[in-house]
Formats: sequence, C-alpha cells, structure tokens
Amino acid sequence: MTKIATLEIDGNKYEFPIIKGTEDELGIDIKTLRADTGGVTTIDPGYKNTGSCESAITFLDGEKGILRYRGYSIEELAEKADFLEVCYLLIFGELPTSEQLEKFDKDIKEESQVDEDMKKILDGFPKSAHPMGVLSSLTSALIAFNPGSVDVDSEEAMYDAIVKILAKFPVLAAWTMRKKKSLPLDYGDNSLGYVENLHKMMFSKPNQSYEANKIVNDALDKLLILHADHEQNCSTSTVRIVGSSHAGLFASLSAGISALWGPLHGGANQAVIEMLEAIREDGGDTAKYIAKAKDKNDPFRLMGFGHRVYKNFDPRAKIIKKSAEEVLSDLGIEDPVLDIAKGLAEVALKDDYFVQRKLYPNVDFYSGIIYRALGIPTDMFTVMFALGRLPGWIAQWREMRLRKEPIGRPRQIYIGENHRKFTAITNR
Ligand code: ACO
Repeated sequence: MTKIATLEIDGNKYEFPIIKGTEDELGIDIKTLRADTGGVTTIDPGYKNTGSCESAITFLDGEKGILRYRGYSIEELAEKADFLEVCYLLIFGELPTSEQLEKFDKDIKEESQVDEDMKKILDGFPKSAHPMGVLSSLTSALIAFNPGSVDVDSEEAMYDAIVKILAKFPVLAAWTMRKKKSLPLDYGDNSLGYVENLHKMMFSKPNQSYEANKIVNDALDKLLILHADHEQNCSTSTVRIVGSSHAGLFASLSAGISALWGPLHGGANQAVIEMLEAIREDGGDTAKYIAKAKDKNDPFRLMGFGHRVYKNFDPRAKIIKKSAEEVLSDLGIEDPVLDIAKGLAEVALKDDYFVQRKLYPNVDFYSGIIYRALGIPTDMFTVMFALGRLPGWIAQWREMRLRKEPIGRPRQIYIGENHRKFTAITNR
C-alpha cells in the first residue's frame, strides 16, 4: 500500500507519496512541492535530511554500522575480494567472472600510459604544491588530452572512458608523489596487478629492481576497498552534481577530488596524523586534548572522530584498526603515534561528551597510521583516499547519467535586502 505524507500550510493540506527503498528506508517524495503549494520550498543546510537521488550502489545504515557495496558487506569484500574486483562490482553492479575480470584488467593495462606532454604540466608545479591540488589539476588536464564528453547512450564509449581513467589515475597519483620526492617518473609494469603496480609506480628506485611485498600490497588493497564508495558524501555528490550538467567524466572527477581535499572530508586522514604528532610532541597528554575537543571556546576538534551518518560505529574503522595493528606487527614497526591514537580512543569512547554526541573513531582515525607504516608521506594520504574512492565516483557518475537525472540545482530562501533604489556613487 502506498503511504502518503500530509503537509499542512496555513490550513491547506498537501499530500505527497512516500517511497520505500529495498532496505525499507522511507523517503517523502516532494518533487511536486513547489508546483502544488505555489512556490514553498524546503530548507535543509548540509542536506542532513535530503535524499538527492535513488541509488542502487551502496547501502549504509549509520545507526547499525552497516556498509554494503551492491549488497555485499564491506567486511566480506575487504577479506575476500581484491580492489579491481570491487571496482568492477561498484561500476557494473555484479562481481566479475574470471573472464570479465581478465578483460577488465587487460583493457585497463592497454590504457595505462598518459600523454608524455602531461609531464610538462607536472613540471610546472612547485615541489611545495599540495599533492591534492596537483592531482586535481592533472585530472583536469587529462580532459585536454582526451577531449569530448562521453556518449552516455553508447555502452562502448562509457566503458572506454571508465577504463581510461582507472588506468591513468594511478599514474598521475604516483607521479605527483615522485615529483615531490625528486624521483624520476615510473611508467609501471603491466605484468603486475593493479595495486602492486600502483605501489611500484610510487616507490620503485631507479637503481634497484622493484620487489613486491605481500603484506604491504594486501594492506593497500584493503584500504582502497574500504574507501571505494560511501553513497552520497560530499565528494560523490559533487561528482554527481557536476556531471548532471553533462560535464564529462574527467571534469566531474576533478571537482570530486577538490571536494575530498577538505579536512572535514578526505583531508581528515592527514589532519589525524598531524594531530597525533602534535600531541606526541606536546608530551602525549591525551587528557589535555580530550578537554580541548570538549571546550566550546576552543576550535580544536578531535580529528578522525565523528561522522555525518555513522552514529554507532564506523564499520570501516573496525576493520582498519585491526589491519593497522597487523601491518605494524608484520612489518615490525613500533609507532608511538598508534599508542596515542589508542589512548585517545579509549578515553573518548567512555567520555560523556563523545558518547552523548555519538562520536566514534571513523575510518580516517586509523588509515593514516597504516599509510605511515607503508612509507607514504602525510600529504599523500588524501591522494590515497582519492585512489580508493575513484570507482565509487565513477559508479555514481555512470548511474546518474544512465538514469538521465536532471541538472542539480537546489533552491534557497533569500534573506537579503528587499528591492531598493540605486544610489549614485557621489551620494553614497
Ligand atoms: N571533536 C569534538 N567535537 C565534535 C567532533 C569532533 N571530532 N565532531 C563533532 N563534534 C561535536 C560538535 O561540536 C557538535 O557539538 P554540539 O552539539 O555541542 O554543538 C556535535 O558534536 C555535532 O557535530 P556536527 O559538526 O554538527 O556533526 P556533523 O554531522 O555535521 O559533522 C563531521 C560530522 C564533519 C565528520 C564532524 O564530526 C567532524 O568535524 N569530525 C572531525 C573531522 C573528521 O574526522 N572528518 C572525517 C569524516 S569521515 C570521512 O570523510 C571519510
């Protein structure tokens, strides 16, 4: 039975259908609100209550701490799948057969060179540039080398664009790091797997043959899977909204990278390590920083704590905490910053301020610790997040275009001056 929501404004009643998702989530469909009511709009800063689309890609239940890609739980995928399989799953909707995966891998490898002229663009950036700014610019620059927007009515054109960006993005990300470290650029090795090749492109030395390390590559693979999609978060919504103007895939992704950069979103993983380092340098007094985070007159926030949707626990944080401990122990690394992180989490999880506000460690609280153990520089952490989120952005962009969604264009409630007469400059 279709449910109806009734809205009453100044004695007039309006009815709106309630739609139900496959996980029984309810949404009031207000598509006709303005037309029915003569222009009444809703106001919802930060879209905390607004569903921008119907999507079949990722389900998450923030209260129960559930995250699933195309119906598969994140716990199972992190344990049993590899990143390339997850890319295929997110983008095309089903886990690939061996033949499909083999073809996907081969097609990506065939596109894994970027135009040599891209190097000139990379050269133009100062070494001090933040890698996220460089990556966003290089992704934008790719548009110039691959002109034309994607013909979304052609399955082949869509597939080509997707394979191209999955192939070239890791090259750009790795080159961004190598430029900063004054290392010669590496072109990768197509005989390696996707994640192994990424690691090689980042870390190979010009005078040494590359030796893969299974612990390192498995940890990297898992981190990328955990970051691969998270439904309508800030960067994904950005990708969808930019793409909704029919801007091409690469242009939409470049905007998504910029959105991810912010410290309240993907930039949090860098901010977490910087915070933990600062606490260590200040003597490791975790209680002092918990007090600062609770003090309303202090702008300090406990980075890596809290989440817009997870109000119980972040299921990715659980997996990653365990993984951080394993990686550090397998690689024989003792990192005092991990002890500070554990200390902070222990105190915060029992503290009324955090309990009442349902503030739990999020994925970024532990991911930086693994990235550090893998030798990834702090300012590259958000780039690693972008590498993981790439298939999610692509899947969401593809879904939005295939569903022929309208251009994204929210409304507002105007609170500025009413009409007034222009005053000549001599009379102001
Ligand atoms: N430290 C201290 N207090 C916090 C924190 C924190 N990390 N996060 C939220 N609060 C407090 C707020 O001050 C507020 O308190 P009040 O009700 O007394 O005013 C309350 O908790 C609610 O906070 P909001 O900012 O309204 O929550 P919102 O859902 O809008 O924000 C966010 C979520 C941005 C993630 C926030 O918790 C935060 O800034 N966390 C730190 C940054 C971070 O780790 N970001 C990564 C997110 S995960 C990701 O992008 C992959």
